[in-house]
Amino acid sequence: MPSLWSKLRKNPFGIHAALRSAETPAKISVRGLDKSFEGKSVLKGIDLEIERGESMAIVGRSGEGKSVLVKCILGLLTPDKGDILIDGHSLASEEGEKLRSTIGIVFQGGALFDSMNVWQNVAFRLLQQGIGKREAKQRALQCLDSVELPARTAELDPSELSGGMRKRVAIARTMASDPDILFFDEPTSGLDPITTDLINDLIVNCTKSLGATAITITHDMSSVYKTADRAALLFNGRLVWQGSKRTMAGSKDAYVRQFVQGKAQGPMTRNSEERDEAKQSGEEQVEKKNTKQKDVVSETAAR
Ligand SMILES: Nc1ncnc2c1ncn2[C@@H]1O[C@H](COP(=O)(O)OP(=O)(O)OP(=O)(O)O)[C@@H](O)[C@H]1O
Ligand SMILES: [Mg+2]
Repeated sequence: MPSLWSKLRKNPFGIHAALRSAETPAKISVRGLDKSFEGKSVLKGIDLEIERGESMAIVGRSGEGKSVLVKCILGLLTPDKGDILIDGHSLASEEGEKLRSTIGIVFQGGALFDSMNVWQNVAFRLLQQGIGKREAKQRALQCLDSVELPARTAELDPSELSGGMRKRVAIARTMASDPDILFFDEPTSGLDPITTDLINDLIVNCTKSLGATAITITHDMSSVYKTADRAALLFNGRLVWQGSKRTMAGSKDAYVRQFVQGKAQGPMTRNSEERDEAKQSGEEQVEKKNTKQKDVVSETAAR
């Protein structure tokens, strides 16, 4: 059995994973995951451990590979290298399909079926499993109620829903199959701040009521603060930081600071074009600040 020290040396971010006894595997382990498309490397040796019942946020700039990571875990994309384990069993093993069926996902954008009404969307997996229509509809109505949508929503078509309602239906659909693991891919993108907060509350409540382990992919720091226990920051194909969400706001890590503060300039500003843009916007901001200060001085002098 590897010693605590050797585990920590291999993965300095996984302190509590290293402290966990070897007999209880992590709920989800991602080990040395690589994925590229036509020679373009998107994920480079991703290592990630998520404990049972934990809620993890994966954050990063747009296009960094967050959805690719989720799709690899879901088996929608085949990794070039590495392994994904659930409860210590590889998804590449014979049990892989069975393990995957314990995962529920709320896709980026909701991904509702336009040809079905709301309750049929929610009950989709149940109907596929051969559960009777009446029972499936009953379960769909319960799930709609748990995401605070009234029963009359059940007969609507997806095109008749607002953005926030679509997200709720997508969450209800995921809950209907009673998953052990929940993935939320950008659950609050495109929503106003109040609806965002309501959806964040729902994520917390649904995850708790199912007793599930959750992974939320997001750019939105309010989602991280509200829904996650820990967060991991993806940049340039690697997880450059992992830690408790409580340490994020005050972190001295340059990557975390740039992301949390939403700064154009920093280590995650990639090419010279982007750096020029960032520099220019930085200079514009300084100029704006100076102009504002000058205005205040002249206003005060005028009084
Ligand atoms: N099936 C695919 N074939 C080719 N390239 C792909 C495919 N899927 C993703 N990519 C590329 O992988 C990179 C990462 O994409 P991904 O969708 O994972 O980003 P993301 O971090 O989820 O971004 P966003 O925050 O905008 O959702 C992008 O450059 C994208 O073009
Ligand atoms: Mg994405």
